[in-house]
Amino acid sequence: MDLNKVFDNNKKWIQEKLDVSSNYFDELGKGQSPDLLYIGCSDSRVTAEELMGAEPGEVFVHRNIANMVISIDLNVMSVVNYAVDHLKVNHVVVCGHYACGGVKAAMQSADLGILNPWLRNIRDVYRIHRKELNAIEDENKRYDRLVELNVKEQCVNLIKTAAVQKAHRDRGLKVRGWVFDVYSGKLIDLKIDFEGYLKDIMEIYQLD
Ligand code: CO
Repeated sequence: MDLNKVFDNNKKWIQEKLDVSSNYFDELGKGQSPDLLYIGCSDSRVTAEELMGAEPGEVFVHRNIANMVISIDLNVMSVVNYAVDHLKVNHVVVCGHYACGGVKAAMQSADLGILNPWLRNIRDVYRIHRKELNAIEDENKRYDRLVELNVKEQCVNLIKTAAVQKAHRDRGLKVRGWVFDVYSGKLIDLKIDFEGYLKDIMEIYQLD
């Protein structure tokens, strides 16, 4: 990657924005009020805003390996709290993607150092859904199903947070699960049963 090109591209991008609206950056400088929090994978192929056609200011973004929502990860939990409590987003999306290297790595019998405790959370997802996953013979299809189930479980983890529970009660915030299909470019809504999960989760995890 030619890093000089990055700055040339940036100049072109500034001009493109100014051509459409001469006060584009004055508006951008005034602040943000995104309606959506996107939690996705760090994978270089899954570009958050670009695949949604979203403009700067529209989406609050957090990315980590395999789009995990881990209760003791100060980083993701700070992002969730800031976006939900302060920016008042109305939608929280967990977006996984097929052919996720993090999900695949989690299922290898290898010592991956600092990644072990991170990826262990994906093994836990496998354990919960072991029966369904073991029944899928094709290895790639099994991984892709694990990607979907991991998205679902991370949505459940979001519902366990006080911020999401309160925002749902106060203004109807919803959590959604999506998958980006890197083979076709398609964004797929898993149509997770948010209300159903919430009801199920609140029996044990109600905080407020
Ligand atoms: Co990934």
